[in-house]
Order: sequence, then C-alpha cells, then structure tokens
Amino acid sequence: MKDQIETIQTEALARIEAANDARAIEDARVAILGKQGSLTKVSAGMRDVPKEDKALVGQLLNAARQAITSALDSKKTALQDAQDAEALKGIDPTLPGRSVHHGSLHPLTHIRHEAISILRRMGFALADGPEIEDEFHCFDALNTPEDHPARNEKDTFYFDSGKLLRTHTSSVQVRTMEGQAPPVRIIAPGSAYRRDEIDATHLSVFNQLEGLYVDTDVSLGDLKGTLEYFLHELFGPETEVRFRPHFFPFTEPSFEIDVKLHAKGQAPKWIEVAGCGMVDPAVFDQINGSRKDEAFSPDQVTGFAFGMGLDRLAMIRWGIRDIRLLIENDSRFLRQFG
Ligand code: PHE
Repeated sequence: MKDQIETIQTEALARIEAANDARAIEDARVAILGKQGSLTKVSAGMRDVPKEDKALVGQLLNAARQAITSALDSKKTALQDAQDAEALKGIDPTLPGRSVHHGSLHPLTHIRHEAISILRRMGFALADGPEIEDEFHCFDALNTPEDHPARNEKDTFYFDSGKLLRTHTSSVQVRTMEGQAPPVRIIAPGSAYRRDEIDATHLSVFNQLEGLYVDTDVSLGDLKGTLEYFLHELFGPETEVRFRPHFFPFTEPSFEIDVKLHAKGQAPKWIEVAGCGMVDPAVFDQINGSRKDEAFSPDQVTGFAFGMGLDRLAMIRWGIRDIRLLIENDSRFLRQFG
C-alpha cells in the first residue's frame, strides 16, 4: 500500500505540473481526490492494513493528500498570474487614475428649483402651457392691440401658419383661467422667445417664471408683499428691491421690479428682474368671453400677475456679468456651480 501511495503521489504531481489550464487542473483534482479518485480509492484500503501499521500508512496518506492539494493550489495561482500578466501587457498599472468629474445642476435649473420651492410654500401651484402659441393666448386675450410693437414681425418669431413662439409666459395665465374658476394661484416657469438684439443682458431665448393670483379681494399690497418676500427669500433679507411704475397692456397699475446686482469688479447696479401688476379688468372680460361664463367677473374678482426673468435672477444670485454665459455651456463656467 505504501508503494501504491507513493506511485499515486508521484504521478499526481507530474500530472498537475503538466496541466496548463484551469480545466486540466480541475480534471486532475477529480481524477485523484474525487469520489472515484485514485487516492480516495486507495484510502479505502486502510481497513485491511494491520493495526500496527495503521498510524504510519495514515500519515503517508495525509502527507500525499496535502502535497497534492497544495500542488493544485499553487498551479492554479500560477496560471491565474500568467493570465493577468497577459491581460495587462502594454498597460502600466502603476499610473495614477484619472479623477472623475461629478456633474452639477446648471445655475438656471438651480434657481428655478429654488424659486418654485419658495412660491409653492406660499401656496402657488405649478401650471404649464405650450411654447408655440396662437395670437389669442399670447396677445388678444391679454389686451394687447393689433398695432402693439410686440405683434410686429421684427420682434416676434412667427410661423407661416400665423402661430408664434410665445414672447412671454403670460399666455399661461390665459390658458389657466380658461380651464379653472377662481380662486387661481399658479406659477408657470418656461422659455420665452423674442427677436432681441443679443447682448450682456438679452438673449432671444430666455426663461421666465409667470405668476397669477386671482381671488375675491387680492390687492396691490398682496402683490408687493408677495414679491418682496420672494426676492428676500431668494437673495437674502438685505437685498435692495425697487418697484418702478411701468406699462403692460394686461395689468393696471403695472410695475417693473429691479434688484441691485453686486458683481465682482463692477459698481453695483439695478437690474430689471420682473414685470408685474394688477390684472386689467379687460383681461377678465376676454377670459369670460372665451369661457362663455362670468366666472371672472371684474366686479367680483381681482388679481395680480408677475413675470420674472429666471436668467436675470441667476445673474444676481451669482454675480454673473454676462447672460450669454448661461447658454454657452463652457465647462470652466459651469464647474463653479458643483
Ligand atoms: N409678460 C411681461 C413680460 O414678459 C411680464 C409681466 C407678467 C408683466 C405679468 C405683468 C404681469 O415682460
């Protein structure tokens, strides 16, 4: 039996040494140590070994098993190492890795989220409308006469069909009131389009946030309080805000709102951020005509509306000097908002 064990061990080690892939090693293991393996079969012979030899033969068996197992293990490791080395050929694994740059929200997305969250806290719900509008929703319903400059081809992008790219989000005011009776308290963020000369504070595609509040006794005080509170929440309580009388066809009285912009290396200056005012009764009349009811009777309801330039809000928030930076997607600019 001693001889048998030695023979098996010698043959096994030779077979393992010759194996040159994982499959051959596994086959060898099964052939030697498996249930029907050569060494396993010989072990069964222990039963017939005379008592006084049992210890010695047992030791031999154990030693053979150990030698074979460790030969299997080291051959497996050696094969794996060779495979890894092959895969890494031509690659220097000691080179430092490239750092991963994490993306971040665009400043406009950031300011929109913040503005929405402040106004939602104040009870405004989100509303929406199409960017390709008709003249009724963009102009007529908003008391904007045929000869108003905004209706000129020079100022507005018209389609051949007569439809147009909305020049402001105020069209969402109309669509909302057509579909919903008072009280109405909505905000509508979205893009607006104008044939503006592009410069440091103007783009032909820009972003607005419209607001509308209609109920039985909404006052100019509500308008001023709401917008001042909003701007102070957004920019901090020290922020200087001023309301300047203005004209819009769809509000009366009307104002423009300016906020002081403090940009690095520039004298502080007032930047216009919004138009606002009390909804003109003529607008309610248009809405009632469109709805074919008196839900927005000017005798019973009043309201205020505002339209803010989100791009301008972002400029003030971060002291951005040129609005064009917001659409150029220069990563050196955008990275600063990470
Ligand atoms: N729609 C106006 C603009 O784009 C802003 C505005 C909205 C003014 C609502 C008054 C009321 O300039």
